[in-house]
Amino acid sequence: MIDTKHLQNVFSSRFGGNGIAFSAPGRINLIGEHTDYNGGFVFPGAVAQGITAVIRPNGTNTVNAYASDLQLAFSFPVEGEWQGPVASMYLYGVVRELQTAGVQVAGFDTVYGGDVPLGAGMSSSAALECCFAFALNDLFHGHLDRMTMARIGQATEHKYVGVKCGIMDQFASMHGRKGSLVRLDCRSGEYQYFPWNPDGYSLLLVNSCVKHELVGSPYNDRRASCERVAAAAGVATLRDCSWQQLEALRPTLSDEDYRRARYVLGEADRVKAVGDALEHNNYPEVGRQMYLTHNGLSHDYEVSCPELDFLVDEARRLGVTGARLMGGGFGGCTINLITNNIVPLFIQEVSRTYSDRFGVACNFIPVVIGDGARRLAL
Ligand code: GLA
Repeated sequence: MIDTKHLQNVFSSRFGGNGIAFSAPGRINLIGEHTDYNGGFVFPGAVAQGITAVIRPNGTNTVNAYASDLQLAFSFPVEGEWQGPVASMYLYGVVRELQTAGVQVAGFDTVYGGDVPLGAGMSSSAALECCFAFALNDLFHGHLDRMTMARIGQATEHKYVGVKCGIMDQFASMHGRKGSLVRLDCRSGEYQYFPWNPDGYSLLLVNSCVKHELVGSPYNDRRASCERVAAAAGVATLRDCSWQQLEALRPTLSDEDYRRARYVLGEADRVKAVGDALEHNNYPEVGRQMYLTHNGLSHDYEVSCPELDFLVDEARRLGVTGARLMGGGFGGCTINLITNNIVPLFIQEVSRTYSDRFGVACNFIPVVIGDGARRLAL
């Protein structure tokens, strides 16, 4: 739980008085990884952890912000160009993008912080963007809907941070609903909630504590590979590329691009299989597909690392129903679909084997599916 009271105290000691509190969550994703920017399906849910901001308009043309976890204070003019440290560009980008969308954002003071573990692949940056997009739209009387605000968060990543991400993380942070996962068609924007209450099973994250950092990472290269293959197939995104088309193109593609696309097409099939399996409460099948996804992410998409591969191998050895790396990759968490009766043993074993193997501890985060961006009661 984020300590809103603490943030209010920091706010009043820096700026005097009180502000209004808003919060937006991080996310998990059951299946559908690296499919969003390929026009495919994703299956995320918002988590209980998030970013909370205490905000108050200040009647000037300046934004004064304090990121309490980073102990970083920064100010920028509400209009005009500005460049600050990367951590500050999320807020700056959201302000600029809201203005472009017609919201008359004026100066404000803010203190923010959160409990989404940084670099764990749980989308702390989307939580931050969505928290401010939602809060500033509310405080400055914008009329943007949640999907538009999600796109503002995504545009911030693209233009101010340099990560060419898809829409999944911001979508989930805006549209999350307690107790439900949501399947989004990233091409049409249509989505459907699936109550998530599997009898006898839990979702458990294992944070490898290898910092996942998409800024400056090969994430954008993966996207570029997909775009090259889509262009070669004459389609807008890989969503519209069939297996036959891909195989026909194979001799003209680099081996790397071919394998990236093979993963994406396979993942589209797996998301569909998971949707069907969920309709029949067939969790062993959901889990089987998760392991297959990890295999593809590790060998074809090449976004895993030894620590994540180890955690998935351990999960398999210990009888976990399904496990895979979650999110962009290059570190962060695995997501495990696990029967409740083996959770204690799994935690005990993996704590030991992981630190024996890598000399550092991993940690375990039970998943509680929470609500999307919101204003908090006073
Ligand atoms: C990151 C991006 C998302 C998505 C995932 C991989 O979290 O922000 O848009 O592409 O990686 O599924």
